[in-house]
Amino acid sequence: MSDTTAIESVLHENRVFDPPAAFARRAGHVHVPSMEAYHARHRRSIEDPEGFWSEAAEAFDWFTPFSKVLEWKLPDAKWFLGGTTNICHNCVDRQVDAGYGDDVAIIWEGEPMPGGRPEVRRLTYRELQAEVSRFANVLKGLGVERGDIVTIYMGMVPELAIAMLACARIGAPHSIIFGGFSAQAIADRVTDAQSRTLVTADGAWRRGKVVPLKGNVDAAIEMAGIVENVVVLKRTETAIGWTDGRDHWWHELTASASEECPCEAMDSEDMLFLLYTSGSTGKPKGIMHTTGGYMVYTALTAREVFNLVPDRDQVYWCTADIGWVTGHSYIVYGILPNRVPTLMYEGAPNHPEPDRFWDIVERHKVTQFYTAPTAIRAFMKWGDEHPRKHDLSSLQVLGTVGEPINPEAWIWYHETIGSKQCPIVDTWWQTETGGQLLTPLPGATPTVPGSCTLPFFGIDAAIVNEQGEEQPANTGGLLAIRQPWPSMLRGIYGDRPRFIDTYFSRIPGMYFAGDGARRDERGYFWIMGRVDDVINVSGHRLGTMEVESALVSHDAVVEAAVVGIPHEIKGTGIAAFCTLEPQHQPADEAATEALRATLSAHVGREIGPIARPDLIRFTDALPKTRSGKIMRRLLRDIAAGEDNPQDMSTLEDQSVLAQLRGT
Ligand code: WTA
Repeated sequence: MSDTTAIESVLHENRVFDPPAAFARRAGHVHVPSMEAYHARHRRSIEDPEGFWSEAAEAFDWFTPFSKVLEWKLPDAKWFLGGTTNICHNCVDRQVDAGYGDDVAIIWEGEPMPGGRPEVRRLTYRELQAEVSRFANVLKGLGVERGDIVTIYMGMVPELAIAMLACARIGAPHSIIFGGFSAQAIADRVTDAQSRTLVTADGAWRRGKVVPLKGNVDAAIEMAGIVENVVVLKRTETAIGWTDGRDHWWHELTASASEECPCEAMDSEDMLFLLYTSGSTGKPKGIMHTTGGYMVYTALTAREVFNLVPDRDQVYWCTADIGWVTGHSYIVYGILPNRVPTLMYEGAPNHPEPDRFWDIVERHKVTQFYTAPTAIRAFMKWGDEHPRKHDLSSLQVLGTVGEPINPEAWIWYHETIGSKQCPIVDTWWQTETGGQLLTPLPGATPTVPGSCTLPFFGIDAAIVNEQGEEQPANTGGLLAIRQPWPSMLRGIYGDRPRFIDTYFSRIPGMYFAGDGARRDERGYFWIMGRVDDVINVSGHRLGTMEVESALVSHDAVVEAAVVGIPHEIKGTGIAAFCTLEPQHQPADEAATEALRATLSAHVGREIGPIARPDLIRFTDALPKTRSGKIMRRLLRDIAAGEDNPQDMSTLEDQSVLAQLRGT
């Protein structure tokens, strides 16, 4: 477990914050108003999951009603069997059909401020229906059929949401790649998914600069080959390469496309999307999510966890990128069915000034705000004067996701952003879980800084040892989920053995999340961090192996070992230890620095800028056990500057250690 300082501080945390009285007043209506209400519903959901979930599913339109709620043959769960529906219909058309076509579905704000003014677009459900249908017809026109995987690589523009909903509409699973990933990362994903259609933009705005999305796509296609059609949205004025016949402008194709496109009737268990995420070994894996269960679970969690209530002037804002699961579930799919406008912001939190987020909250009167601890730590560092310039009194609920939040950041969020008036929902979940599993409910759960508190309805979570035995209070163990839930992953695309091995082999009979955690005497969960070789950098998942492969793909590097180290802002930073080819040994300090910069840029090109190491050390050898395993724990301590006494007897060559400590 990587970040021992975080564990230390949470162990001593015992401040309890009841839901502030102002919350119920501001919200006007609270879905789950007390712990009694929470316990009663949670108990029901565990004792009678089929009854609970079939009632939850009634909030949606089904084209054919399901005949069975759950079929569970470990590790395969099927939900809402026999039912057909379409998530795009339930996000968009259902609102129009019910007479809410003129309600705002998406509020979008661009990053640049032309003439000092923000560029804002508001899309009603009716407009969204038209745009989505048009683009769905564009995809069909390019030969995309039900079941074909469409890759989307865009910035945070409304067309990203439009493209994903269009895919859902016609039953073509999407595979969205975060715009910060490299050409190589696109090539790997496109190849794995055998995706022949790609949707992108000429570029994306980030801190006043243009990220060359189309350039990366061109380079990726050169490597991967397989892509036949690329639709390009014009967002910037950058010059781009163009391949006639393969590349098409979004605006040209949509101009002539019809606004009529019926939703395909999808089976509950038809794949909705693939989303690649990092694991301990090998290349990123394509996590598969299906239609019915994901739809019901994400919308219900969004409603209860953020207390979404339509017709009460709420504006919900999640600052994640849609390229990550948080954006899939809690910008688009979980929010639109709740008929509360979802805000999308294109750019960086500190552009043009460090108060950009608070300016957005004030201007759009944001009521629910969902972000990552790493962002909160950055805001703390930038200073209180930035939020203080703005009226944040519209806020009702504050959320965090992606990594453990340190109590200092929690308290700052509570006081400086929430003026002590807003409950904080610290939500634990994963790409694989589809939706939030452990979380407070804002009007009910007393919160403790650093704890994600209690399981959501239908979630049977436990702290167990390797044998699956539940651990007593305050004893660390593995976080496991004992029963299936509707939005759980259905597999890893094209890799059944890895699916079973990763999630269902370590603890007999249960889903193993990959996190270490403990439960306190109240029953609250405290996440201690990953217990595998995954590191969580600024809330983004990276496999240490991925970064190591990127390093050794450079001529200078023979062997590399990558570990996570505590980092003030990122939570976890990346430390890399490399051994070098003799002819690449740097002669002096300047050459060493130059090589570090080269390797860091190389990793940025291979994976993406988020994977660039914070620290690179060169060494003659890596510490290994006699059986040849790299001693990562030892490297972690060395990188973090700690000198914990531990068992060195297995270290093969003791002189390696002395050398590493000396560098
Ligand atoms: C970590 C992001 C502590 C955890 C939605 C998990 C958290 C991994 C929290 C999944 C939280 C997520 N507290 N740790 N509230 N939320 N994590 O797939 O280690 O990008 O396994 O999904 O992030 O990351 P992923």
